[in-house]
Amino acid sequence: MAMALIEEWQPDGDGSAALDSDVDMLAEVLRAVVYDGAGVSFVVPFSLDDGRAFWIDSVLPGVRARTRRVALARWGTRIVGTVQIDLAVPPNQRHRAEVLKLLVHPDARRHGIARALMVAIEAIAQAEGKTLLTLDTWTGSHAESLYRSFGYVTVGVIPRYARGSLTPELEPATIMYKELAPPEQRS
Ligand SMILES: CC(C)(COP(=O)(O)OP(=O)(O)OC[C@H]1O[C@@H](n2cnc3c(N)ncnc32)[C@H](O)[C@@H]1OP(=O)(O)O)[C@@H](O)C(=O)NCCC(=O)NCCS
Repeated sequence: MAMALIEEWQPDGDGSAALDSDVDMLAEVLRAVVYDGAGVSFVVPFSLDDGRAFWIDSVLPGVRARTRRVALARWGTRIVGTVQIDLAVPPNQRHRAEVLKLLVHPDARRHGIARALMVAIEAIAQAEGKTLLTLDTWTGSHAESLYRSFGYVTVGVIPRYARGSLTPELEPATIMYKELAPPEQRS
């Protein structure tokens, strides 16, 4: 299987046809992850149109304003994974960014794509001068162990935080952070 290419989403780079096709593929990644059973904001039923609405209404404006940075993983031309950071923090937290929506399509899992996406998004955060990354994740999920292996520290667990995408029970969330070296300490 070919290696995935990791790149930052440039939604206005190649015209509106490319944007539509990127949004369609991102919507399909989100739809498939929701139907696979995950704690990623949404619950079933969840259509491709719901997915398109998320990317267009909740993500694209921030990407255009440069307050949201999105990394993509492509197999050939197909987008199979994504992660993002939100830089829209209050004035007293300019050093911080929130890691959001690490999603890998079920067809593409266990090939190191999530790891590659996290490396890319942390590099973007460092280039922006961020020294603190924060996130929450589903307690006991594969994502939680992935974040831990990347050096994210667990602050604690909030019980009954959110329901899963397929089941009504409220599930706990783990709150995590990672400090990044400031620019002068990087080799
Ligand atoms: C979590 C997720 C992003 C991992 O994507 P992936 O591309 O398959 O992950 P990788 O192949 O890069 O694996 C990275 C590490 O994650 C952990 N991991 C991922 N899938 C795993 C699995 N099925 N079983 C055990 N560990 C797993 C392992 O630590 C793995 O490292 P290893 O391969 O060296 O053992 C993917 O399963 C997903 O999209 N899940 C649903 C959405 C979600 O929970 N996102 C996080 C929201 S906070």
